[in-house]
Amino acid sequence: MKTTLTVIKADIGAVGGHLKPSEAVLNRVKEYVNLEGGGLVIDSYVSYTGDDIAILMSHQKGVGDSDIHRLAWEAFREGTEIAKEEGLYGAGQDLLKDSFAGNVRGLGPAVAEIEFEERPNEPFLLFAADKTEPGAYNLPLYLAFADPMHCPGLMLSPSMAQGFTFTILDVSYTEGDRVIELNAPEDLYDLAALLRDTHRFVIKSIRSRTTGEECVAVSTTRLHNIAGKYVGKDDPVMIVRVQSQFPATGEVLSPFAIAPYVSGDCRGSHNVAFMPTKVNEPVAWFDGPALVSCLAFCVHNGRLTEPVDVFAHSFWDVIREKATQKTLEIRRQGFVGPAMVGFEELEYGGITERLARLDEKFRVLQPSGSEG
Ligand code: F6R
Ligand code: MG
Ligand code: MG
Repeated sequence: MKTTLTVIKADIGAVGGHLKPSEAVLNRVKEYVNLEGGGLVIDSYVSYTGDDIAILMSHQKGVGDSDIHRLAWEAFREGTEIAKEEGLYGAGQDLLKDSFAGNVRGLGPAVAEIEFEERPNEPFLLFAADKTEPGAYNLPLYLAFADPMHCPGLMLSPSMAQGFTFTILDVSYTEGDRVIELNAPEDLYDLAALLRDTHRFVIKSIRSRTTGEECVAVSTTRLHNIAGKYVGKDDPVMIVRVQSQFPATGEVLSPFAIAPYVSGDCRGSHNVAFMPTKVNEPVAWFDGPALVSCLAFCVHNGRLTEPVDVFAHSFWDVIREKATQKTLEIRRQGFVGPAMVGFEELEYGGITERLARLDEKFRVLQPSGSEG
C-alpha cells in the first residue's frame, strides 16, 4: 500500500497585520484535523510560518483526494470563524471561493503532495515559506538536484548518477497546467534559461531518473490567477524526499545558506534575501523578511516521527545575520531599480492608474531644428 504526504497551507488571518495566526485559530485548526481526520488520515502535523498555517497529512488516499482536501478546507473554514470572532486581520483571506468543489486547487489554499511506496526508512523535509512566491525554490532546487557543488552525491553516489527530471510549470498561463520536462544534466542550460524567471517558470516536481520516483512536490498556486487581482504572495510549501537515491538532507539544505534574493516582502513588491527561520515564527520587519522554515521527519507505515526544526540550529544564525544584511542593503535603495519588483509583478493596482494618468501627459519632442 502506498503512502501519500499532503501539505495544504493557507493564510486565514493574522495578529497585528500579516504577522502570525493567533493561538486560538491554530488550536481550532489542529483540533478539527484531529477530530475529523480519524479514519481518514494516518497522522498529521500543524505548524505556521509567518501568517500561513500548514497542515501536513499522511494517508493512503492518493494525490488530489477530495476527502483529504475537504478536511483541510473545512479546518481552515473553522479557523476562519475564530479569526473573525477575534477580529484578526485578513480573516479568511486565502479562502477565495465560498464552496468546496472536490479539490482545494483553484480555491486559494496552496497544496503539495507526493504518493510513494515507502522505503524501509523514509526521511523527508517539509518547507514552508512566507512573503514570497513559488519560484523562490527554483534556485535551491536547481543547486540541490543538478549541481555537484551543492550535491556531491550527483558524482559520488551510483544511485543518483543518472540525474533528475524537472517538471516546470508556466504559471502565467491560465488556461490549464502548461508544463515542460527537462533532464539534468543534459538540459542544464535550458533549465537555467527557464528557472531564472522565478515569476513565470516554477519547478513543480522532480523525479529520479534512476528509479522514476517522484521526490519533490512544490505548491504552484497563483492566487492572482484565481482572484483576478492581487491578494498576497503565494507563500509556497514543498515536500522533498531525501537520502539514498535522492539528495541527502544536507545537500538539499546547502543552497539555502546562500540566502538568495527572492521577490515578496512588503506588499509582495520587493526583492529581499530569503531568510531560513525556525518554524512557528512571525514576520518581523517591513512585513517580512521573506521566510523559509524546514521540518525534517521520517514516515513509517504512514506514521510521522517528531520533526527536527532544521533551521533552528545555531549554524543558521550566521545565515540569518547575512540575510538581514543583504536585505537591509537592497532596501536602502527603496523603490529604485532591482530593489522593487518589475512592473508585471507589482500587483497593487494603484501604480497602473498612476502610470496611465502620467502616460497622457507625455509628449514626443520634435527633432531639433524642426520646432519654431
Ligand atoms: C505581503 C503582505 C503585506 C501587505 C501589506 C499591506 O505579502 O501581505 O506586506 O501587502 O501589509 O496589506 P493591506 O493591503 O492588507 O493593508
Ligand atoms: Mg498574508
Ligand atoms: Mg503569508
